[in-house]
Amino acid sequence: PQTSLEKEKELAALAAVKYVHDGQVIGLGTGSSAFYAIRAIGTLVRTGCRIRAVATSVRTGELAREAGIPLIDINTIDEIDLTIDGADEFTPDLMLIKGGGGALLREKIVASLTREQVIITDSTKRVDRLGHFPLPVEVIPFAARYVQKELARLGGTGKLRSKDNGVYHTDQGNYILDVDWGLIDNPRALAEQLNRIEGIACHGLFIDLTTRVLMGKGERVMVFEG
Ligand code: A5P
Repeated sequence: PQTSLEKEKELAALAAVKYVHDGQVIGLGTGSSAFYAIRAIGTLVRTGCRIRAVATSVRTGELAREAGIPLIDINTIDEIDLTIDGADEFTPDLMLIKGGGGALLREKIVASLTREQVIITDSTKRVDRLGHFPLPVEVIPFAARYVQKELARLGGTGKLRSKDNGVYHTDQGNYILDVDWGLIDNPRALAEQLNRIEGIACHGLFIDLTTRVLMGKGERVMVFEG
């Protein structure tokens, strides 16, 4: 049977899929919450809804194909109408930490092209301040040690993400440093500092990219709008 957190993710996903309309280009997020949205969008497509989609990861592309959702190359479009994605943490003023699933770089590119980004989560993801969840920072392998030192200068302890006794690689072949800052006082200022470090391909602070968060809570869905 489905756990209560899984149920909350599914409720949020089903509420988000109501924003999908015929003819739109949809961004498909990555992770266990996005999975429910992909499944529901597959059902819409089978019942005649004509959408085209862009995937934020190799895994999501596979799931979309299995669900019968037509995928297009992101380099053939100028805009994405709606993206449905998950998050690792969010604040009520719509700042996010993303990248727990490793797909942050494509997720941020898709978010940047998106007119309406709807984030779906269970009730554990809401925080007053970001930083309980370590911040994923994607680095090109050549820069890993340099970036780790620069992060330390800013007060962050970066741990190289591993998988199956080896180093974790993103879909782009990069590494991820999961960075503990303690609670983050000023996410906007930190994002700007991280944007200036050479060798960082992407960091998981998503600011000014989200239109609304739909959070499953028990049997209900709570809506957070900026
Ligand atoms: C993927 O890289 C992440 O940004 C996900 O959006 C995030 O990890 C949320 O995943 P869940 O929905 O599985 O919690």
